[in-house]
Amino acid sequence: MMRVFPLLLSFVTTVLFTAAQPTSSPFFKDADLVNTGIYYYPEHWPESQWERDISTIANMGFEFVHLAEFAWYKMEPTEGVFDFSWLDKVVNLCIKYRLKVLLCTPSATTPTWMRVNYPETFIMDGHYIRAENGTRGLGSMVSEKYRDGVRKVVAAMARRYGTNPHVIGWQVDNEPGAVADYSPASQAAFRIWLQKKYKTIGALNKAWGTAFWSQWFNNFGQVIIPNTNLVGWWGNNPHALLDFKRYSADTQAEFLDMQAAALRSHIAETQFITTNYTAVCTGADAMRTRKLDFATYTAYPNGGGDNIGNQGFRLGNARAVLFAADYYKSVGGVSGVMEMQPGPVNWGSYNPLLLPGTVRMWLYHTFAAGGRIACSYRFRQINYSSEQYHAGIMLTDGVTPSPGGEDYRRFMKEVKELRQQYRPGEAMPQQMKARSTAIVWNVENYWSIDRQKQTHQWDTWNFPVKYIEMAKSLGAPVDVVPETADLSAYKFVIIPAYELADEALVKKWADYAANGGHLLVTCRTAVKNRDGHFWEGPIAAPISKLIGARVKATDMLSGHGKGDIVLNGSHYKWNNWADLLAPFEGTEIVATYNDQFYKGMAAIVKRKSGKGSVTYVGVDTDDAELEKTVLQQTLNDAGASTENYPEGVYVYWRDGFYMAVNYASESYTMNLPENSKILVGEKTLKPAGVLVWKVF
Ligand code: GAL
Repeated sequence: MMRVFPLLLSFVTTVLFTAAQPTSSPFFKDADLVNTGIYYYPEHWPESQWERDISTIANMGFEFVHLAEFAWYKMEPTEGVFDFSWLDKVVNLCIKYRLKVLLCTPSATTPTWMRVNYPETFIMDGHYIRAENGTRGLGSMVSEKYRDGVRKVVAAMARRYGTNPHVIGWQVDNEPGAVADYSPASQAAFRIWLQKKYKTIGALNKAWGTAFWSQWFNNFGQVIIPNTNLVGWWGNNPHALLDFKRYSADTQAEFLDMQAAALRSHIAETQFITTNYTAVCTGADAMRTRKLDFATYTAYPNGGGDNIGNQGFRLGNARAVLFAADYYKSVGGVSGVMEMQPGPVNWGSYNPLLLPGTVRMWLYHTFAAGGRIACSYRFRQINYSSEQYHAGIMLTDGVTPSPGGEDYRRFMKEVKELRQQYRPGEAMPQQMKARSTAIVWNVENYWSIDRQKQTHQWDTWNFPVKYIEMAKSLGAPVDVVPETADLSAYKFVIIPAYELADEALVKKWADYAANGGHLLVTCRTAVKNRDGHFWEGPIAAPISKLIGARVKATDMLSGHGKGDIVLNGSHYKWNNWADLLAPFEGTEIVATYNDQFYKGMAAIVKRKSGKGSVTYVGVDTDDAELEKTVLQQTLNDAGASTENYPEGVYVYWRDGFYMAVNYASESYTMNLPENSKILVGEKTLKPAGVLVWKVF
């Protein structure tokens, strides 16, 4: 395959891609499908064991080794004095055993000399207490000294390994989370950020609504970071807090970009630059970075939840993969899992053994969803320090694979076999393509709504994830995309609780529907402008025309009592959220409230728009049965067939392969067409089961 490296330096964050299919990337071979790797921390083990460990990694089937993530102290033992001799040895061992290397910048953990010499390089928490070293992610990204230190160590690494052909790429930092920083340096940086945004203090006063409770500022010098720790819930200023979140996310993105720039000036263009966002990412915003080639995510599905059925506590929660796998592709077109839980962890509410095969199932899940990388934290379970009880690929003796290790081994063997069945250029089957669905996401809506939920029953994070699950259960391929994405590749677009909007965005949605797309808009959309203010007009005024109705009022129930809604003669229960709708002429009423004092009012409406349609779902229910029925109807009305996979069963298509995984405690038998050939697994998916097949 010819490799071209267009625009590596001026990366564009949103890419155009064919719905829900992995795109080609200059950094990966399509025919490899997925490359599997492992975190190894040589600095944790005696040098005499390095060769044994690296050769075991190779023999197990791993293809790359992830190194140096937290090893700042070892690469720069004293300030300005670098020592890479130890890392050279490990990299050379990897080369000897035909393993590729993925290097990580060590910015997430600073060495002790940094704390001693420059205590100001750490964040301050909401009680103005300084953090110190000893864990991850507490460096103050606006501290000049810290940034300087990071730039230097990153550049030194890049000079050392940037042209090594065995180094495939770089991960900058670890799990960037845009941690809130209330230090004096951050206060100053926030003021500069605000000044740039608002230009005049009058504009800031207006946007923040500072006339309320005497918060008025005479100049930017008076502004401080809004701090709910000190003023309590009542004292929260939602607009100020929203800006603080934006500032923190911008700062995080700029910090990652700074590292990427420090790397890029030394490394070969064949080496990629990425980072590993958390799967539930509510602080950092991947869409704000400009210099990463793509984004990966970390996935820890089992943290002590009940999940589905009596074995669910051993199988984990698919939501740890669902959103991330569908979303991070939006940065650079490809993604993958950088840390996949290898067994029990040490931080769950309790940490049971996993059902045999579970790690393999999770790996298949990320692979099925398009992952180009599958990597695990970590090779050896550590015998000491904070993560003693955290599983590794090897048990504490260092030589016996753990159950998760065996799962990895099996996965890697099977992937190698599947590569033989790969045929370039296979197109997504028409039946699936006809269901292609995009869910539009902007973390700012999360920040805004989660501050003012209005009911304890509202689950801000899981609201869009519920729609992913519904669409998947209907057999639709799903992408989670930013609002800047080209929507025309999708037959269906879901706008879930998109609270902050403006006229231009609403017009984009309206154009999509007018051009034949099918739009499903939910409650809590376009309720506020981008500053987080209500409109001086009816609720959700900008979308009234789009949805063909006015939102007259909103209700919610206690949770003990459930309301009744009728759709096509069937009854559904609701309790979380209910918009009371007054449809305009020509708008179809899809579902109505069947009790309460407003019995007979519309809950869900639909209208035709050009060749497309717009459906508005004013309700949020616990079991999502009502919403799923409406989504199904939307797909069917538009001519798309649907499946009805049970909870916990997820089916994907990629690169010519159909793949299914089962997170439920019950077996499920897949209905396969006659001309299909099973490549991995069995038609009946047991709990933690995997099935891969091709249709000829
Ligand atoms: C992740 C982190 C890793 C490791 C892991 C333990 O969040 O990135 O460094 O600590 O958790 O589960």
